Amino acid sequence: MKDGARRRSGPVQAGLAAVAAGLVLAGSGCGGDEMLGPDQIPGGADGPFDWILPDGFPAPRVPEGESMTAAKVELGRHLFYDVRLSGNRSQSCASCHQQDRAFTDGLDVAVGSTGQHHPRNSMSLTNVGFQPALNWANPNELNLAHQALTPLFGEDPVELGLASMEDVLVARLEGDTTYQRLFAEAWADRPIAPVSIETLTRSIAAFQRTLISGDSPVDRYRRGDREALTESARLGQSLFFSERLECFHCHGGLGFTGTFDFEGKSAPEIEYHNNGLYNIDGNGAYPPHNTGLHEFTQRPEDMGRFKAPTLRNIALTAPYMHDGSIASLDEVIDHYAAGGRTLADGPFAGDGSANPHKSGFVQGFQLTTAERLGLLDFLLALTDSSFIAEPRFANPWPVGSVARGGGS
Ligand code: HEC
Ligand code: HEC
Repeated sequence: MKDGARRRSGPVQAGLAAVAAGLVLAGSGCGGDEMLGPDQIPGGADGPFDWILPDGFPAPRVPEGESMTAAKVELGRHLFYDVRLSGNRSQSCASCHQQDRAFTDGLDVAVGSTGQHHPRNSMSLTNVGFQPALNWANPNELNLAHQALTPLFGEDPVELGLASMEDVLVARLEGDTTYQRLFAEAWADRPIAPVSIETLTRSIAAFQRTLISGDSPVDRYRRGDREALTESARLGQSLFFSERLECFHCHGGLGFTGTFDFEGKSAPEIEYHNNGLYNIDGNGAYPPHNTGLHEFTQRPEDMGRFKAPTLRNIALTAPYMHDGSIASLDEVIDHYAAGGRTLADGPFAGDGSANPHKSGFVQGFQLTTAERLGLLDFLLALTDSSFIAEPRFANPWPVGSVARGGGS
């Protein structure tokens, strides 16, 4: 983490501190001298976990003290899709993270269960188990189980709206026969009171780590299928990886993101960049609720720095950027070609290309018609259609069930 980074002390974090205090989070840094229960031995009671990895993919790094088992993943999937995880039973994680949109929601900014607008766009969960730092720009959010506390219990903005309802939530789940079985199977080392906020968030995290996508035409081409990419997409690929367009510096590697980690990697890679979206005051200011890394570090040079999101499945996740302010991939290309975005009017008017904190890799370029089409075709060829059709990632609840908001 950067010098001077400090924990945000806003109302959301304050509200969460109480919940987090009762939660023993694995991977949060304490020594490895605790006793490990049977399910915490790597591979767990079920034996080694079968990740079902695409060719050439390493396994995600599982935080120390956590383990992956098929039973936890199955429980986590049920929880991820259950509207009983919102105060008013109107939303689940999947409301904002929909499989057919690569786990986004199609909105510019997310809308919570009580109608409150989030300042930011719902992020894709494509390969989220490989993300060492979570959210658009939170350098303190390093653990999937911990991250889930924000949508569950956060109060500003309200997402699932369960603040002060921990006991209600646990009672809802304990009363359900499906969960009685799933929690008992997944948390057999806790015969007494297996349902808790800790087991719930850790199970959802286990499910999320399985959301692995690596079967796009670009992957198939890399594996030797020369027919997988059209000539136009191949042209786009060479532009994407060229020093003229520079895209790969920030969206490179297996994950097509600068923030990536996996089992066996020497150290997680975590990067934040300013790509010239705003420049409200001529000194580089971004809109007040979306200042990126600066919100956490208060360092002037961190203004407008965000994670470069994965470009895998990017055709499915419009609108784009942390605030959903770019509608289409065509306009994303305009943005980079201009070396940043100029907004002529409105409250956030300004010349983003002149933002003093902008990365040196965003300088602008000119494309011929064929090159532009090629770049677009390459971005479209990052779509993994098997990922969005994969039954293991789909809603497990029967139509009409209470978990889907039907029944009583
Ligand atoms: C109201 C919509 C909404 C709901 C409900 C919601 N999320 Fe999100 N999710 C978001 C938004 C918006 C972000 C970006 C947050 C930020 O950067 O501040 C996000 C970010 C994430 C990330 C970070 C992804 C990354 O690549 O860094 C994860 C993981 C995640 N959500 C998981 C969940 C889980 C698990 C649940 C259910 C417990 C959930 N979300 C419920 C909207 C939602
Ligand atoms: C200096 C690093 C950098 C370079 C170079 C770069 N990007 Fe980005 N990209 C980012 C960051 C950071 C964001 C998110 C910015 C934000 O939301 O404020 C982003 C966002 C995007 C998005 C939207 C992602 C989403 O999920 O909303 C797309 C698409 C994209 N970039 C494509 C490209 C292409 C194509 C190129 C090359 C022409 C490129 N980028 C070059 C850093 C970079």
